[in-house]
Amino acid sequence: MSNIVYIGASLDGFIADKNNRLDWLHELPNPEGSDLGFADFMARVDAIIMGRNTFETIQGFDCDWPYSKPVFVLSNTLREVPKAFVDKVSLVRGELTDIVGQLAQQGFNNLYIDGGQTIQSFLQQDLIDELIITTIPTILGGGIPLFGKLNEPLKFKHVNTVRYLDCMVKNHYVRQR
Ligand SMILES: NC(=O)c1ccc[n+]([C@@H]2O[C@H](COP(=O)([O-])OP(=O)(O)OC[C@H]3O[C@@H](n4cnc5c(N)ncnc54)[C@H](OP(=O)(O)O)[C@@H]3O)[C@@H](O)[C@H]2O)c1
Repeated sequence: MSNIVYIGASLDGFIADKNNRLDWLHELPNPEGSDLGFADFMARVDAIIMGRNTFETIQGFDCDWPYSKPVFVLSNTLREVPKAFVDKVSLVRGELTDIVGQLAQQGFNNLYIDGGQTIQSFLQQDLIDELIITTIPTILGGGIPLFGKLNEPLKFKHVNTVRYLDCMVKNHYVRQR
């Protein structure tokens, strides 16, 4: 069972810019349309847990639904899933350990955890087992941070690095307990 973060971050550790935008992430030249290992990663996971804000961002993307696995959206405010997404998304709320336990009982053992606040909440409870972070060589100077405050440091072991498109670096870390 693993809870895995797979995310793109600026050099200064932001996952969205000051205007909540991702242009800086998508504007890098990618002539051959590499997915930067995303399909291989998706094959490893059973489901995705994302925060409501990330779900709202994805609803605005001008592309097909990017996930091949069930998506669970964390929200205390959403009462129902927008019609266009009812066959793709379920809403969840409550204690993260309960949610993860309930998903495991349904056979969803390896989870892709997405969204800034969501990742920070999981880290605060030491519920993240792997971090796969692609660093984009831009300093945004502000925005939505990937990491926040913790009560205790969390140590990770570095297992792999891949360089993409001559400019991005994807680092894979596994929690050392
Ligand atoms: N760079 C990348 O690869 C990447 C990846 C993903 C997202 N992003 C960007 O990150 C931004 C979104 O991140 P974010 O930090 O704003 O938020 P987020 O984690 O996507 O969403 C936060 C919301 O999730 C819900 N939530 C979180 N924890 C919860 C819990 N334990 N129980 C119930 N609900 C919970 C709450 O929704 P309610 O308010 O409804 O209760 C909360 O307001 C977007 O701009 C997105 O584009 C970037």
